[in-house]
Amino acid sequence: METDTLKPSRLNDLKAGAGHTTSEVPPRCLRWVLVAAQALPSDDKCGKRNQPCHPTLPEHEPSTSKSPWRTVDATGIIPEQSCEETLNAPPSAGRHSRGTWEGSEAHSTMDLDFMLVAGTRPNFVKLAPLYRALAARKGPRLMITHTGQHYDHAMSGSFFEELGVPEPEVNLEVGTGSHAQQTAGIMVRFERLLDSHTPRWVVVFGDVNSTIACALVAAKAGVPIAHVEAGLRSRDWTMPEEINRVLTDRLSDRLYAPSRDACENLVHEGISTERVRLVGNIMVDTLRAQLPTIDHATLLREYEIKARHYVLVTLHRPSNVDHPDTLRQLWTAMQEAGRREPVLFPAHPRTRSRAVEFELPPATAGFRLLGPLPYRTFLGLMANARVVVTDSGGVQEETTALGVPCVTARLNTERPITVIEGTNRLVRPHASSLLEALAQADGRRGRIPELWDGQTAERIAADLLEASSGA
Ligand code: UD1
Repeated sequence: METDTLKPSRLNDLKAGAGHTTSEVPPRCLRWVLVAAQALPSDDKCGKRNQPCHPTLPEHEPSTSKSPWRTVDATGIIPEQSCEETLNAPPSAGRHSRGTWEGSEAHSTMDLDFMLVAGTRPNFVKLAPLYRALAARKGPRLMITHTGQHYDHAMSGSFFEELGVPEPEVNLEVGTGSHAQQTAGIMVRFERLLDSHTPRWVVVFGDVNSTIACALVAAKAGVPIAHVEAGLRSRDWTMPEEINRVLTDRLSDRLYAPSRDACENLVHEGISTERVRLVGNIMVDTLRAQLPTIDHATLLREYEIKARHYVLVTLHRPSNVDHPDTLRQLWTAMQEAGRREPVLFPAHPRTRSRAVEFELPPATAGFRLLGPLPYRTFLGLMANARVVVTDSGGVQEETTALGVPCVTARLNTERPITVIEGTNRLVRPHASSLLEALAQADGRRGRIPELWDGQTAERIAADLLEASSGA
């Protein structure tokens, strides 16, 4: 039977302009000579090629987000609120923070070197090692700002505790909204914060609404921006994250890329090589630091599972969970797989609420629906899984770093290196395709991409300090 998974043969069917296939990796890609934390060679001609290496499947579904506009208040309740009300009214003192966005006394205007901004679960995992690397150098004055995009303890506060990072000094408490409402809400609040706390650099992470909102404000305030995880591209303009990536990179002064294909994307878009650094994957720093602290035997006992005999699932992309038919397909596949081996599904709040809305069948003994998990618990479950099913960007990378097979229920990926070098496989989000991919998931270990060595934060910290001393 023909599978819907991404295979080298299938890669050759790519639409023109959609990217390079595995076998079509342009020779010049291999000629990138790049020393960690050094500028890309400015005479490199990669930017003149048509497209960098980039696996994808040839179709995609439009994404729709229909979150109601809500924001958090001091009580922790999330009331329905008008956009105008929320933009005009300052939010209350932050949970997961030591101060409000306007009232922080932590720093006065001129004594701050780096403001590290994060808003969502994956941002916190990227921020933690860089904060530690900068703090260890003792000299730089740091401040963490939380936009409040994620606000539940399980999605936010627990990460700061677990990863050993101090609570953010400021929480903008933007909460949930449509894309425009959330992005604009962060911008208004962050702009006011920058009036009183002007850092020498603003550091943003990843591709979420918080990333672009703060980058846009910083750029107009004339504050240099460093973007950690620059250059990733899915070429899927229906993905809100793709828009955030492209725009954030365009605004940034220092672009820290996790892989060579990301560097090539940037150069292809005309970004000066002087601003780009290949530093490796900062999530791997956190993964490597935390993995040895996990008691795997206890974890497996707690969840009543055996190593390599269960499937771990995480799905939250609007393109998968906001469409009843697609989510039903995924749900059916997981229920079916749960008849053969335990399927553990820690569901994102978005996914859980859609499952209720679409009246999907309840979990079964084999298909176990869980709440969002703390970082270390999720990492331990990933490390011991037979296979992981996901649509998350970070999980594609983490499974590659762990050497655990990964089935990504998406038609494209902004992280092609996880397919080309790692353990990842793209699969159409249909029940039959997913079940087939699960049955075929072998023990392919892949190889660890260049510079995914746990030292990325050190490279960024060294470069940022150098950039800041020259600024
Ligand atoms: C966001 C990012 C996505 C990232 C994901 C990680 C954007 C455009 N998307 O998507 O790239 O992969 O975070 O999780 O920025 N919710 C809660 N509690 C929370 C946070 C969210 O209940 O702590 C609910 C919200 O009420 C909303 C839904 O989850 O209904 C979506 O939250 P939102 O932050 O808008 O986007 P994510 O889907 O989490």
